[in-house]
Order: sequence, then structure tokens, then C-alpha cells
Amino acid sequence: MSIETIFDTMDYGTAPEDRGPALQWIKNHGGIAGPYINGKWGPFRDDLTVCNPATGEKLSGMTQTSAKEVAEAVKCARAAQPSWEALGGPARAKFLYAIARIMQKHARLLAVMESLDNGKPIRESRDIDIPLAIRHFYHHAGHAQLMKTALPDRKALGVCGQIIPWNFPLLMLAWKIAPALAMGNTVVLKPAEYTPMTAILFADICSQAEVPPGVVNIITGDGSTGESLVESDVDKIAFTGSTAVGRKIQDSVATNGKSLTLELGGKSPYIVFDDADIDSAIEGLVDAIWFNQGQVCCAGSRLLVHEAIAEDFHSRLKVRMDKLRIGDPLDKSIDVGAIVDPIQLLQIKKLVAANDAGETYHANITVPDGCYYPPTLITGLHPSDTLMQEEIFGPVLVSTTFRTPSEAIEVANNTRYGLAATLWTENINLALEIAPKLVAGVVWVNATNLFDAAAGFGGLRESGFGREGGWEGLQAYTKTTNPSVPAKAVAAFKGTSAGSDPVDRTAKLYIGGKQARPDGGYSQAIYAPKGQFLGHVPIANRKDVRNAVQAQTLCAWGKSSGHLRAQILYYVAENLSARRESFAKRIDEMCGGKAGLEEVKDAIDILFCYAAWADKFEGRAKSVPIRGIALAMREPVGRIAALCPDATPLLGLVAPMAAALATGNTITLCASQPFPLSGTDFYHILETSDVPAGAVNILTGQQSELAAHIGAHMDLDSVWCLSTQEVASSVKEKASSNVKRIWQGAALDDHNSWLDAGTEIKTIWVPYGE
Ligand code: NAI
Repeated sequence: MSIETIFDTMDYGTAPEDRGPALQWIKNHGGIAGPYINGKWGPFRDDLTVCNPATGEKLSGMTQTSAKEVAEAVKCARAAQPSWEALGGPARAKFLYAIARIMQKHARLLAVMESLDNGKPIRESRDIDIPLAIRHFYHHAGHAQLMKTALPDRKALGVCGQIIPWNFPLLMLAWKIAPALAMGNTVVLKPAEYTPMTAILFADICSQAEVPPGVVNIITGDGSTGESLVESDVDKIAFTGSTAVGRKIQDSVATNGKSLTLELGGKSPYIVFDDADIDSAIEGLVDAIWFNQGQVCCAGSRLLVHEAIAEDFHSRLKVRMDKLRIGDPLDKSIDVGAIVDPIQLLQIKKLVAANDAGETYHANITVPDGCYYPPTLITGLHPSDTLMQEEIFGPVLVSTTFRTPSEAIEVANNTRYGLAATLWTENINLALEIAPKLVAGVVWVNATNLFDAAAGFGGLRESGFGREGGWEGLQAYTKTTNPSVPAKAVAAFKGTSAGSDPVDRTAKLYIGGKQARPDGGYSQAIYAPKGQFLGHVPIANRKDVRNAVQAQTLCAWGKSSGHLRAQILYYVAENLSARRESFAKRIDEMCGGKAGLEEVKDAIDILFCYAAWADKFEGRAKSVPIRGIALAMREPVGRIAALCPDATPLLGLVAPMAAALATGNTITLCASQPFPLSGTDFYHILETSDVPAGAVNILTGQQSELAAHIGAHMDLDSVWCLSTQEVASSVKEKASSNVKRIWQGAALDDHNSWLDAGTEIKTIWVPYGE
């Protein structure tokens, strides 16, 4: 191109990055992406092909790691784990630090490899993926160093199986491996079948850093290798990928006691108010939906724009779209690269072709042949249209309008997902009013797609559970040093007569602040140890569960202040205290023995304790490397159901209730199955203590039956399985219906674990400056 032409067209030239060193590395590595197990490479087999999506050329062969080889990798990881943990945090920190240093040394090779393998623009892999991955190892070297003093009550989980997707191959690897190693775990990680190359390079870096054999194991292969890992003898599965596969994994770990974190899909809203800085909001959108070709779980793929500015906004957006440069990912002046694989491209094309709503605009730019899709905007959609609800996972933005802030919130939250949200307004009051109301794990104010190792990332609803990054991310790779004693089943006492007392002793359920007869109309008799009749309790069924959850939904407890929650919990404690003798008598009558008074005292203590916590379990302001702040807000998880333990019928009911209420949740309690009368007595305390209707509901009956309905309920956010393992298993078998959080309790004095189980971190990013 002559200088004259350049002056004439003002066109960008090409700035290609050299692919030579990366291709040479693959060649030197034998042309196969194969497993790295126990510090050794292999077996290398040409079972599958890894392609460069930009050209369709084969980059490398790949071993499909077999189930037997996966089991071997897990065995080696298990053998290596005790000594890795015993090394201690400061020694582990040195390895993490060394990994970070070596990654930094090979940063360009890693970036080129990532772009060759995934098709993402080199500008992004060079400036975002790789630096963030390195930062993750540095940051977590610090967490390893500080573990003993900062987390004295936590220890490693053991062996972690980790499965990652293809959209941010090295970054997702770093998010998973760095915290796991820092906390003393060993790992077996499977990269996605489309993009194994930087994981292989990373294994090489681990060997350069002399990480002990078996601490980091990489296994290559497709979904079937992933399945083998899920079924193997690991202590935890950490998965990032599609909601469909996440559900399958939740089902398959349901009965074997493995820990699980899921980071799944999203359809994140991008809300633009009429007072927004429109040019900035449009630049933000470029980062929200055309970053990584829109193949981002938290992509701002659903534009909600204020009706008053919609026309202007859309037309300015189209002008910007026409200026995006699409093409060779290794060209440094490219904005939009290649789609990861022809299968994904086909999926995007199919979804867009099937839509006949609204108006579709493709950027008016020349799209290269091959695995490319033009930046696309579809306007005029309704919130219920398929493309407003389904994850497209491509460079396609869908849009609708709103009129008022409350409508914006309603439309934004009208999705089964809850990963991220972006909002643009020059009115900070409005922004800070809206951010807490959005159902999302991350909210960006006047910015988008900001990530950092110090800030938690993760979703709500069907976007999964667990956080990656920050102090909260460490939770998922540690367990308490003070585990609770697993609850045991206790058999109910038998009796033969229903007694001759003419006063009816049939207790009721407690739903929505009222005593309610059971829907099924059945009751069961409860007997004392020597067989005397104590009373009848209702047998709740599916419809009673439904009514209780409905009452929870209508209750605004989550909006009440910590101060008010504390006052009400103190009031409950006072009222229980006033009736301590009768509650103690009831416990002794039902269970036998004389422990009643002690149990009532413990229940009162725990109410006082969580009343104290209600306005003190706070979030943090994160130290992130931007001019701005990332607020880690603790929010209630929402609607909880608890299956209370058989033993300690009062304390086992009051403890989960107090922890859930203190953290702003509503709760449905399924009382002790053999000794339910403390539960049915307890609603008299609730009725006189200003507890709002629906905040606490009490059911009685067969826990195994209730567990299945609770597990399957689509509106419950979390289930606390505090009774037997068998009951927990029936909840877990159904829990993937809406990707519920399942928690199996902690020791009663481990308040932090209870409070953590009642809350989820929402990270709100607020940059400073004009
Ligand atoms: P995927 O969820 O199938 O793959 C993610 C990882 O899981 C890969 O490593 C894969 O090998 C593994 N995997 C697949 N089936 C498995 C199984 N049964 N057990 C254990 N591991 C298994 O995602 P895929 O097929 O690559 O993409 C399909 C769609 O998923 C995309 O169009 C997109 O909508 C969504 N997706 C979402 C991601 C996110 O970050 N939220 C990332 C990747 C894909």
C-alpha cells in the first residue's frame, strides 16, 4: 500500500504477530497435546484434532485420555496431596510465585498460542487473558502465604477435579488451579477439547517451576474424559461451561458427597438509562458483546435501553459496529476474531435464523470466509422472545426498551440466569439503588467486563454457585477444621393408643404466618418413650411445600435492615425464654431424659448470637487494580428450606432459622421427624414475636417425601440438609432442576459457616472519574 493510498483511505494496515515460535513449540512437543500426569508426559496419541479456527488448519493432535488414565492421574494427585499440604503456605507460595514469574517470561508465547488455538484477537489474549492469568497466580501466592494466619480454621479439601471451557482457556485454568494449589489441594484439570494448547504449555511451566510430581495433572480429551473425571475418586469438582453439562454434573455428584462449584451460562443485561454518557456506553457495549466474539459467559448480550434514547442509541451503535475490524486474530489491529469452531458457528447461525422477531442488523463490514460471524444487533424484541432468553454465545446483541427504573429491573431479572449485569447512568444515586436489586453475582456500573483476582466472580440461579477470586473464592477450595458430627436417624417411639384426653391435640402446619391444616388431610400420632400419646402432627405434602415457598416469595424480609432483623430475633429469644419450662418439659416428654432445659438454653443462646450477628456480617471493599472500587456485598441467598435433624428437636430447628433470618433469608423448616412437637409449639413463639408472615414456615411429616419435593422446587434457592445422609441424597437427586445450592451444615459454634451459607457475594464495580 502506498503512502498516498493510506492518506486517501485512512485505512488500518495489518500488524501481524509472528506465529512461528508457537508452531515451533508444538512441533518440539511432538505435535500432540497429551496428558501430563505425575510430572510426566503421555501417553501421546493422535486421537483427536486441534484446529486453528481462523484457518481451519490442524494445529496439533490430541490424546483422548481414557477412564483408566484419568483414574491414574487422580491416584497420583491423591498420593501427592498430603505432602503438598504439609509443605505449608509459605513454601507453596514460592511455587505459585515461580509459576507466575515463568508465565510472565513466556507471556507472548502464551498469548500467541491462545489466539492460534481459540481464534480470539491477539490484542485481547496479550492484554487481558494472559496478564489476568498471571495476576491470579501472584495474588494466590499471597493467599498461600497468609493461609495460616488469615484462615486458621480452614484446610485443604484434597484432590480437585477441574473442567474448563474453551472461551478463556488459560484464564479459566488460572482461576481454578491457583486457589486450589494455594490452599494445599492437588488438581487434575481437563481443558476443553477445542483449546488444550495453553494448558499443555502451562504443564510445561509447572515442570520448569519444579512443582512436585502429582500436584498439577492435566488430562486432555472431550466430554467423555470430563465424565470420567466427574466419576473418579476426587473430593471436589469445579466446572465452568454450559448449564446443560453443569446440571448433568450436579446430578452425577448428587449421591457421592463430592464438593461442587458450577460457573455456568448467562444472558446478562446491559442497561442504559436516558442520562447515560452514550458514547461511553457504546464503547462499553463493544467490550460487553464483541469481546471474544461474544463467547463470554457474562457477555452483556441483552441490551435494555431507555425508550427515550433508544432510536439515537441504536443508530449510533450501528455506526460503531460498522467500524469494527474483523479478521485474522493474530493481526494486532483486529477487534473481532474467529468463532472457536464450525460447530459453534453453526449454532449461532441456527439461533439467529430461527428468529423472526424484531429487526436484525449485521455490521456492514467484510466478513472473511471461514469461521467468522459479523457483529449483529437485533432490536425490537420482547422480553419473552427466545433470543432474549437463550444464550447465543456469539457476537449477537439483542435489545429491548424500558420506560422506568423499576421496569428496567423487572426486565433485567426476567431470566433464569443471574451471572452479571451492567448499568450506565450518570446518576450515582440511581446506580446504587439499582445494583443491589439486580439478580446477578457481578454488577458493573459505567464499565463492563472488569475482572480481578481479588474480586469474586460467579453466579446466581441457573448461572451456578460458588465464587472464583478473592477471599470468597478460597471457600470453595477449603473445608473447616471443625466439622459437624453427621446427624443420625432416630426412630420415633411407638404407642398403641391415641389417648383418652377429650381436648384435641392436633397441631397444625405454620405457613404464611398462619396455622394451616395439611393439604392431604392426614396426621400422625406422636408418642413418648413409654408409649403414651403426646399429640398428632400434620403430614405435609407437595402442596404444603408449594404454599410455604409461595409465602416465602411474598415476604419482604430480605429488604429489612440488619438492625430490624436483630430486634426481631432478640424478641423471639425473649419469648422463648419466658416459656423455657414448658419447652423443656416437651423435649423431655418426647425424647426421654432430662436434657430439655439445657437444649432450650442453647436455643435461646443461639438466637441471641445470630441477633448479634444480624447487623455485623459485613462485606468488603476490594483492593482491585483500577481507579475505582469493587464492593463485595453480602446478599441473602433468598428462599431456603431446611430439613432439620431428628435429635435436638428445638435447637435443630432454631439454629438454622436464626442463621437464615439473621442473613435476610426466608426459611421453610421441616421439623424433626420423630420429635416434631417442639416445632409445632414453636410457632406460638413466632406468632407473638413480630416475625413477618412467610419469613418462617414450619412443616411436619415424612422428611424423605418432603425432601424430593423440596429438591425439585423451582423457586427454592438453597436447601440445608441437616438431617440424615439419605434425606440429603433425595434432595440432591432433584436439585439440578434449578441448580440449587445444597448445604449440609456445620458445627453449631462455627457461626461463620452458617452465615456464609446464608449469604452470597455480589461484586459491584464502581470506577472513579469523569
Ligand atoms: P460444554 O459445557 O459442553 O463444555 C465445557 C467443558 O465441559 C469442556 O471441557 C467439555 O469437554 C466438558 N464436558 C462436556 N460434557 C461433559 C460431561 N458430560 N461431563 C464432564 N465434562 C463435560 O460447552 P461446549 O459444548 O463447549 O459449548 C456449548 C455451549 O455451552 C456454548 O454454545 C455456550 O452456550 C455454552 N458455554 C458456556 C460457557 C460459559 O463459560 N458459561 C463456556 C463454554 C460454553
